[in-house]
Amino acid sequence: MNQKLYEGKAKIIYTTDNPEILLAYYKDDATAFNAQKRGQIAGKGQINCTVSTHLFKLLEQGGIRTHFIEQTAPDQMLVRRVQIVPLEVVVRNIAAGSLCKQTGLPEGKILANPLVEFYYKNDALGDPLLTSDRILVMELATPEQIEQLRSLSLEVNRILTQFFNQCGITLVDFKLEFGLDETQQILLADEISPDTCRLWNQSETDSEKRVMDKDRFRRDLGNVENAYQQVLERVLAQNLH
Ligand code: C5P
Repeated sequence: MNQKLYEGKAKIIYTTDNPEILLAYYKDDATAFNAQKRGQIAGKGQINCTVSTHLFKLLEQGGIRTHFIEQTAPDQMLVRRVQIVPLEVVVRNIAAGSLCKQTGLPEGKILANPLVEFYYKNDALGDPLLTSDRILVMELATPEQIEQLRSLSLEVNRILTQFFNQCGITLVDFKLEFGLDETQQILLADEISPDTCRLWNQSETDSEKRVMDKDRFRRDLGNVENAYQQVLERVLAQNLH
């Protein structure tokens, strides 16, 4: 029997007959600003699950170990059970979102090098930005694990940036989550989708028209479903080898 193990803002995780394998069900529910804004994006669950499947397969081919096993329905995938590291790793290529708000950098400024940031995955505290020293004090990861998370995230960025460029999409920034398997090896977990990435259409220069990601929902730009569908179609148009 499948039992609900955990319900998050965008996914529900169920147990399966195999204790090492879980079922991730992707919801249409959308939240922003630490769930202060709530809504639904029609078809989002299926789109995000399918986009994540394609990107996990791409990353596996590129040598990145992920929790992904198999997509079993448009909005469901089997994943390996991991112990989630309570860090959100954000990689940024272009200034946007909280980076602009907190530093004054103008939106759209291309960063000379990708910026890797760690946030504490804790809704009650509002997911605060951490430093490496804080991560150590909080005993959330070892120095070696911090370095591994950083280099894995940069490699993911390299692979995804190139892939999205082939789709005519600029990967502005994105958030990753990682887990530890039974041997304490780090695996890429969670999802990679228009909910967790900023994606700009390269054939639009207008700062609102180009947005193909959850910022359309956050900023009330409209056409959210269309934008997600466009991302799905462009991603699926790129065959994996
Ligand atoms: O809000 P901020 O600019 O820090 O977000 C950076 C990137 O991380 C964006 O692509 C955003 O969608 C993603 N993110 C996320 N989940 C969070 C925070 C940020 O997917 N809890």
